[in-house]
Amino acid sequence: MGRFDGKVAFVTGGARGQGRSHAVNVAREGADVVLMDLCDQIESVEYSMSTRADLEETAALVEKHGQRALPIQADVRDHAAVADAVRRGVSEFGHIDLVVANAGIMPTTGAGSHELQAWTDTLDVMLTGVFYTVRETTQAMLDNRNGGAVVITGSTSSFRGVAYDVELLNPGQVGYGAAKHGVIAIMKNFARALGQYGIRVNMVAPAGVRTPMVVNDAFSNLRASSPPGWMANAMNVDLAEPQDISDAVLWLLSAESRYVTGTAIPVDAGQLLC
Ligand SMILES: NC(=O)c1ccc[n+]([C@@H]2O[C@H](COP(=O)([O-])OP(=O)(O)OC[C@H]3O[C@@H](n4cnc5c(N)ncnc54)[C@H](O)[C@@H]3O)[C@@H](O)[C@H]2O)c1
Repeated sequence: MGRFDGKVAFVTGGARGQGRSHAVNVAREGADVVLMDLCDQIESVEYSMSTRADLEETAALVEKHGQRALPIQADVRDHAAVADAVRRGVSEFGHIDLVVANAGIMPTTGAGSHELQAWTDTLDVMLTGVFYTVRETTQAMLDNRNGGAVVITGSTSSFRGVAYDVELLNPGQVGYGAAKHGVIAIMKNFARALGQYGIRVNMVAPAGVRTPMVVNDAFSNLRASSPPGWMANAMNVDLAEPQDISDAVLWLLSAESRYVTGTAIPVDAGQLLC
């Protein structure tokens, strides 16, 4: 018996990285999964973003656990597209019970990071996109009258500034932090209002995680040129694995955390202490 038998999950940014890990983990625990991902490049982002093939691969991994997957190539910045993805999920699987609002970009390096467009992109994807995702999925939960659980992917950048010099005051980097701070307000408001309907809303706040967002030349160069101790943590861990974040996400989605709502859990090896 799985922790999520009979449940349906909706995961944004599910093509690869942490989103894929969350999707495969909830499937292992018995959930069917709606996978939503852009699968395209955003110009301000220097590293390569995911592809349709990545999304199909995640769907196949979900199906390997005997669960159904509904891969949807769509943009969390587009309200109509998010609403349509939720509608398709409900019409295919009957309901949505678990949500991971995880899609994200990090345009903090390269020429694009210095364009004001990078500010717009970060806020659109990681603040507005999270709002659309949480708004539409929780409405589906309210319609279903059976509660649910939402986890938003924040960051240690939800709680601190990481700019150590003028270079990192670029619109992409500051926008990243602003969006990640902003989702705390989304999380707290939805948690406060929807608790009475059995819908819990929480956030996970990772430090560095081994995904293509940070395992790339651009980010490696940034780290190499940064002062000693930048992004250090108490445990001297370089990068967490996606599974480390999934373990926290699964707990927040499960009945084991049934009275936990409106909170943010750092999975950061103590980075916020340093
Ligand atoms: N990797 C890290 O070190 C780290 C640390 C803290 C927080 N995070 C956050 O974790 C989340 C997952 O990132 P990851 O590390 O798995 O990176 P990733 O780049 O591997 O995955 C992000 C996914 O989000 C998708 N996406 C981006 N914009 C989208 C849009 N507009 N609509 C739909 N999908 C979109 C991408 O296509 C990609 O598949 C992000 O919110 C990120 O900010 C990452």
